[in-house]
Amino acid sequence: MLKIDLEAGLLEVDTRDGVDRHPIGSPQAFRLLSQAWLRSGWDAKYVYGFSWMGRPIIQLPEDMMRIQEVLYRIQPDVVIETGIAHGGSLIFYASLFKAMGKGRVVGVDIEIRPHNRQAIEAHEVSDLIAMIEGSSIDADVVSQVRRQLRPADRGLVILDSNHTRAHVLAELRAYAEFVAVDSYIVACDGIMQEVVGAPRTHPDWITDNPQSAVKDFLAERDDFILEEPVFPFNEGSITERVTYWPNAFLRRIK
Ligand SMILES: C[S@@+](CC[C@H](N)C(=O)[O-])C[C@H]1O[C@@H](n2cnc3c(N)ncnc32)[C@H](O)[C@@H]1O
Repeated sequence: MLKIDLEAGLLEVDTRDGVDRHPIGSPQAFRLLSQAWLRSGWDAKYVYGFSWMGRPIIQLPEDMMRIQEVLYRIQPDVVIETGIAHGGSLIFYASLFKAMGKGRVVGVDIEIRPHNRQAIEAHEVSDLIAMIEGSSIDADVVSQVRRQLRPADRGLVILDSNHTRAHVLAELRAYAEFVAVDSYIVACDGIMQEVVGAPRTHPDWITDNPQSAVKDFLAERDDFILEEPVFPFNEGSITERVTYWPNAFLRRIK
């Protein structure tokens, strides 16, 4: 149980041994409040309420701010994203590249609905976007992605399609080759593990989730490490991301 006392500037939380009290502005209180906010947002479908340059984007805005920081620092030649949906995230990455004057985006989805395809193809940044339809782990689809790339391309990969452990692990194995050294492959939506019991969840999500796939992948590879992106600017006291993508960023180290 959480109790917020704004007048006293305190957060109280029940623990096994009693009650912990944290100043409301402490990192511990911010963490607990963020967990509660994320859970409330999950139940309320908060992430289904945003668009980017006219296209619905199914992301927590905090995650988009952080990935923008990563993209600007890494300056990849290409972002490969699995999971297009309405196209908002593809447009987001392409619009950053447009502003940066470099980079392009390859999107993969098992089903690109005609109205979504039309809207993406008609968009101001469509010249930077290629779309491939099919399951992201289908060998022919992965070959089509490969054909979109030039030999010297430095890639960054974002996995936001089917979030089962098996599917994400298969994606990690198939798309790792497109990630440049010091760039990332990002396994989105590990939040699933944290919200089990909430509406639209399944008890299996405790283990059947992208965070488990990341652990499996790391156990079989020595060329990637799990590494939180560092905030390039931070004059506050919070150093943890508020995120739908916990334990998601795998940096290629060789
Ligand atoms: C969470 S949505 C993607 C949201 C999008 N990235 C955004 O930020 O707006 C997941 C998408 O993955 C697609 N998908 C599901 N299974 C897939 C698979 N096996 N291969 C490729 N895409 C898949 C769905 O069709 C859906 O459009």
